[in-house]
Amino acid sequence: MASPSSAAGAAATAAAVAQPALPTTNADKIYSDVLASFQIPRDKMRLIATHMYSEFVRGLSADGAPIRMIPSYAYAMPTSHETGVYLALDLGGTNFRVCAVTLKGKGQFDVVADKFTIPDSAKVGPGAALFDFIAGAVEQFVHTHDLSAVAASSATGELTMGFTFSFPVKQESVARGALMYWAKGFDCPDVVGQDVVDLLQVALARRAVKVRVVALVNDTVGTLVAHAYKAPATVMGCILGTGTNAAYIEQLAQVTKYRGTPTPTGTMLINTEWGAFDSEGKVLPLTQFDRELDAMSNNGKQQVFEKLISGMYLGEITRRALVHLVEAGALFGGKLSTPLQTVYAFETAYMSTIEADTSPALTAVGQVLADHLAVASTTLTDRQLVKSLVQQIGTRAARLSAVGIFALLEKMGVPESKPVVVAVDGSVWLKYPGFQDRLRAALRELMGPEKAALVSVETAHDGSGTGAALIAALVDKQH
Ligand code: GLC
Repeated sequence: MASPSSAAGAAATAAAVAQPALPTTNADKIYSDVLASFQIPRDKMRLIATHMYSEFVRGLSADGAPIRMIPSYAYAMPTSHETGVYLALDLGGTNFRVCAVTLKGKGQFDVVADKFTIPDSAKVGPGAALFDFIAGAVEQFVHTHDLSAVAASSATGELTMGFTFSFPVKQESVARGALMYWAKGFDCPDVVGQDVVDLLQVALARRAVKVRVVALVNDTVGTLVAHAYKAPATVMGCILGTGTNAAYIEQLAQVTKYRGTPTPTGTMLINTEWGAFDSEGKVLPLTQFDRELDAMSNNGKQQVFEKLISGMYLGEITRRALVHLVEAGALFGGKLSTPLQTVYAFETAYMSTIEADTSPALTAVGQVLADHLAVASTTLTDRQLVKSLVQQIGTRAARLSAVGIFALLEKMGVPESKPVVVAVDGSVWLKYPGFQDRLRAALRELMGPEKAALVSVETAHDGSGTGAALIAALVDKQH
């Protein structure tokens, strides 16, 4: 990182999480050690950011670097004047969605979207089952929303679609790309190395669905482009949801591994795949619970940064810490329950309920513990300890997200004097109480209040669907 700016005085702001009383017994000491292991002070955040910055540079210079820094082949940003009806597919989070986006110009658009739940059986196993499921959903959507007429009136007789596929893809053009590896619990091994647009197009053809896929887009790239349609100062799209990642605008001259045409001038959107940062655990302060989670996951030693931040994992980290504390006699009178010992039984959504509970008796906390963990009776102290632990784990996630955003802004050399916008979407960002404030406070700690005032971290609505539709519109125009 060039020259870290001073942010004296801001250090204490974001870390302020209510601490339980000082330890008096061995169990208390174990509890406070666990809590402390999740803290990331400002200096540590800056150290991580410095390392991340150099990993961004490394990823831009060579294929196969830990942070992939994938060229998206999306060069242009929307003008806000694009118009037309485009389909978008959004695969890669908790839900799978099919959308029809009507771009109305002047930054205005309407979205009609249907959500589908991907059966667990299609998430793992042969890729054909997954892509058949997707094609079936598109067929149903076109039928339900009577879109055949739109297809028939187009020059090609087909609907034009952008495919948001939120996994690392080695992109070869705006509409071609081979899957590098799966994340977030998906695992269809035969898809790795294959062009996912081909797989989708073939599955659509099997059902004679008249749709042409013209753009393959990561959700972060979609979020960036969709928000830029409304707010042209947008420089970054970030997802804080089931997984985490960010995309940004890079000078092609900086993408030293890029050998394509047109000649490397101007800018391109880069999908960083920052979730893979520091998978060796060199600078990230991993706790024993993070290491355990990583070791039992289906992608061990991969996506380690993501595992500290995103909704797929926060609940499980918490569950592991709770088990440790119960075993140490620091919680629930030392009594374990079956759900407490069940992997992934504690969902990140429960953390949101716990954080939202400000009642003196922490009634909602007790309810979560009783309903979901079969811990029927808890003391107020138990509930306070659980809440503080959850706060600490949620705060760590928010602070690490801020580190990523800060490092990427530094890579872009912004903000200088003009304000910039960072567009964020995802369930953790949207639904986790206090996450947004903690992230913004950590950014102030990292950047100093003056510089941070030039960075507006905003919610991007419907980014991944609308962005794919917009990129499809931009590609469509070029033909
Ligand atoms: C995972 C995927 C990435 C995606 C992110 C957020 O990190 O690898 O492509 O952007 O999740 O959905």
